[in-house]
Amino acid sequence: MTTLYDNIAELVTNDPTAGDHSPLGIIADAALLVDGTHIAWVGPRSAAPDAEHRVDCENRSLVPGFVDSHAHLVFDGDRAAEFAARMAGQPYDGGGIATTVAATRRATDATLAATVARLSHELRNSGVTTFETKSGYGLTVDDEERSLRVASDFTSETTFLGAHVVPAEFALRRDAYVDLVRTTMLDACAPHARWIDVFCDRGAFDVDEARAILTAGIAHGLHPRLHASQLGRGDGILLAVDVDAASVDHCTYATDEDIEALAGSSTVATLLPGAEFSTRAHWPDGRRFLDAGVTVALATDCNPGSSYTTSMPLCIALAVRDMHLTPAEALWAATSGGAAALRRNDIGSLTAGRRADFVVLKAPTYIHLAYRPGVDLIETTVVGGRDETA
Ligand code: NIG
Ligand code: FE
Repeated sequence: MTTLYDNIAELVTNDPTAGDHSPLGIIADAALLVDGTHIAWVGPRSAAPDAEHRVDCENRSLVPGFVDSHAHLVFDGDRAAEFAARMAGQPYDGGGIATTVAATRRATDATLAATVARLSHELRNSGVTTFETKSGYGLTVDDEERSLRVASDFTSETTFLGAHVVPAEFALRRDAYVDLVRTTMLDACAPHARWIDVFCDRGAFDVDEARAILTAGIAHGLHPRLHASQLGRGDGILLAVDVDAASVDHCTYATDEDIEALAGSSTVATLLPGAEFSTRAHWPDGRRFLDAGVTVALATDCNPGSSYTTSMPLCIALAVRDMHLTPAEALWAATSGGAAALRRNDIGSLTAGRRADFVVLKAPTYIHLAYRPGVDLIETTVVGGRDETA
């Protein structure tokens, strides 16, 4: 079945050989042809081919679906009181993770699945067409395994994060916990995961522990990614580059040396503005990364502690306002950047042959995503050619 999305005021392709030849490859007065699950053609509407169905986009902007490459959706409970305490002056140090671990361990599989379903529905309605999600609130062999089993019913981008923090029962035996993660827990979790991640930061895991865990994951066929330099400076970003991680996430305290290493690598720096917003942290300057030639992605980091948002448009607006990305750079980072952070080349741009994952905005230009913060601008979310707007 073919469907022509016609009357598009501004089509963002992310193909620099198309349209205005900018990185967003913008075609004005455009049309887009979907054949089944994939894009068959994009171009000016004056040259549009015939189709069985036609959707009138009414002079709106059509952009690639957002790719949320970093989320923690498998958990139970919330931490609203912790957020309120932070806004009253308490610092964020990751200590609240233990609260979510306790609630997650008590929850049934059905309760965990209901949370992932609710949040993935929110993501769809915020224009997200692909999302990653992590374990990391179970921290026992069984609870990590079931977290990933539940997650894999919703996305193929699943990440084993048994090394989120050392759970309380191992506080005096952290070496034993690292050993558990890289042996028995990894054996149980690897069949349900594509990625392995470690929270390499102050109060979580050091760089030697992180390297040991990532190395074991790689030996099990998982691909590495990392949380690093969220709470302070450290060597996590250099480790990510060294193991050719697809992405290193947060990078709030990245040094010049870190940025230089990233620029010479194929590791993406994923910035998480929801976390800086919700923890009232210092804002990393996205310009430093972009000006050095680093590939930047934006993601929600949706989790009940440091960033309880599913809104990619909010993340775009914050990245523009507070991380100094232009609206064009922020949109690219939330789409093609996210695809690069997941090492995917079938999504993130709108050219013939790619998956038909896109969003029609209630706006004439993508700039409104940052210009109209907090306003619902998602008209339609199409995933694999299907309208999945709820
Ligand atoms: O990415 N930094 C580590 N993990 C999460 C936060 C987890 C939590 O506070 O529950 C993050 O921000
Ligand atoms: Fe995270």
